[in-house]
Amino acid sequence: MSDEMILVTGATGKTGRRVTRLLRERGVPVRAASRSATPSFDWTDRATWEKALRGATGMYVVHPDLGSPRAADDVAAFARRAAAAGARHAVLLSTPSDAPAEEHVLSAERALGHAGLDWTVLRVRWFFQNFSEDFLHDPVLSGEVRLPAGDGKEAFIDAEDIAEVAVAALTEPGHAGWNYELSGPRLMTFADAVAEIARATGRDLRYVPLTPEAYAQEQRAQGVPEEWVRLTVDLYEHVRSGGLASLGDGVHKALGRAPRDFSEYADTTAREGVWNI
Ligand SMILES: NC(=O)c1ccc[n+]([C@@H]2O[C@H](COP(=O)([O-])OP(=O)(O)OC[C@H]3O[C@@H](n4cnc5c(N)ncnc54)[C@H](OP(=O)(O)O)[C@@H]3O)[C@@H](O)[C@H]2O)c1
Repeated sequence: MSDEMILVTGATGKTGRRVTRLLRERGVPVRAASRSATPSFDWTDRATWEKALRGATGMYVVHPDLGSPRAADDVAAFARRAAAAGARHAVLLSTPSDAPAEEHVLSAERALGHAGLDWTVLRVRWFFQNFSEDFLHDPVLSGEVRLPAGDGKEAFIDAEDIAEVAVAALTEPGHAGWNYELSGPRLMTFADAVAEIARATGRDLRYVPLTPEAYAQEQRAQGVPEEWVRLTVDLYEHVRSGGLASLGDGVHKALGRAPRDFSEYADTTAREGVWNI
């Protein structure tokens, strides 16, 4: 009998929840970890790490703020403790190699191997599910998605595809040492994505391109913390300037199939009713 036990960090989040579900469907023992789990796992409180790591042979690593210097340090320390506690392999949810804060992200990626773990890195693009499970959900409900992304293109990806690649890497041979660049099948503007949701829901919905200054002002007026305002302005600027306008072949390489298209996600999610008003 296999002694595998997978620790899933970020287990309540958009990819971690799906990784947890898929592993359990395969009968793999899982420890689902996050601040709201029992016992609580908190990246900012290293005293909580030991219990989370106990008995784990593999890990899905999600840090909520991978672009920060603190995250690189956290991931390195976590990887060392995991290896010392008996873990053998880790899958890291990462960002595209040309994204802002590249230096900290690369340092976090390299930390897994430096700790002696077999590693797989998932460099992922914007999730489809940001429109239904996160910060773009309310704007969709309001009828206007107001962002400073211009007509820049992104290779949005389905969090289900990311989770399937993570589970393959955690349970099957052949994925160690891979940096998978994971994207959806086509480049889309935010206007394209919003139009797909409008089509699928039959709702009157539009994308409104803002200047970075106007966006920042609107965010501050809504009480969004300054650090988050600056971070998101930079991220949208990266999209606007075309910095993310390329496709990745990671889903093909890891799963041998095409990634799911945004239109399929829009249809399925519309049927679930989360965009109903
Ligand atoms: N969203 C995207 O489109 C996207 C694209 C590319 C890369 N990424 C990267 O993916 C990572 C996760 O982002 P996400 O959007 O997937 O987040 P998410 O879905 O909101 O999930 C975040 C998870 O982390 C947990 N968490 C938050 N703070 C924590 C802490 N201090 N200690 C332990 N767990 C904590 C949350 O659960 P609790 O609240 O229960 O702790 C939740 O399970 C980030 O590094 C981000 O840069 C995201």
